[in-house]
Amino acid sequence: MPRDRDVQAFDERAASYESGRHGQLHQEISDRVVKLALARVPAPRRVLDVGCGTGYVLRQLAARLPQASEFLGIDAAPTMIEVARAAAGDERLAFVQGTAERLPAGDGVYDLVLSTTSFDHWTDQAAGIRECARALAPGGTLVLTDQFSRLLWPTLLGRRRAKARTRARAARLITAAGLRELHWHRCYAVIIQSVTAVR
Ligand SMILES: C[S@@+](CC[C@H](N)C(=O)[O-])C[C@H]1O[C@@H](n2cnc3c(N)ncnc32)[C@H](O)[C@@H]1O
Repeated sequence: MPRDRDVQAFDERAASYESGRHGQLHQEISDRVVKLALARVPAPRRVLDVGCGTGYVLRQLAARLPQASEFLGIDAAPTMIEVARAAAGDERLAFVQGTAERLPAGDGVYDLVLSTTSFDHWTDQAAGIRECARALAPGGTLVLTDQFSRLLWPTLLGRRRAKARTRARAARLITAAGLRELHWHRCYAVIIQSVTAVR
């Protein structure tokens, strides 16, 4: 069992993650992420999802991308990976336990790297973004979605004080990782936003 508190909590929720009100909220966010990703990268060959949970985003993308060859999902929670594998239903989908900070993925391989509502839980967000940049093919696109808002400043006074929960903080990490052409997109309500960037 992972020691990270957030990951352990997700591991315990994995079997019922797609059910109920929370499940519906995550699916609504994910559906918008899929739409944005396909608008930015209409025909990716290889797709990587970091903090993929039960694999919902990759299943949606696989259904719309018959020409793509690989959909790799990485998650730190082992039970999320088990649930994702059981739900996959497409041999191009693969799920591997691992962390954003040390991605079990090759260099310069993926045309599209996504991460949806996972970034805020990463222990070392700078390292995770550097890993996403490393895995991206030249010209490939990152679609990073999470809570980014100045409204979250009060939460940065406590346990989450080092988190990149504002656009400015996230942009610094993304730019430092060597990515460019940052664009922000409203995703869900006021706080959930996506940022796209190109390697
Ligand atoms: C809120 S869930 C989001 C899951 C999925 N992306 C979705 O949109 O439904 C956050 C996920 O991030 C994973 N996670 C947390 N920290 C991680 C890390 N450092 N590396 C990889 N995955 C991580 C958790 O295990 C969990 O499955």
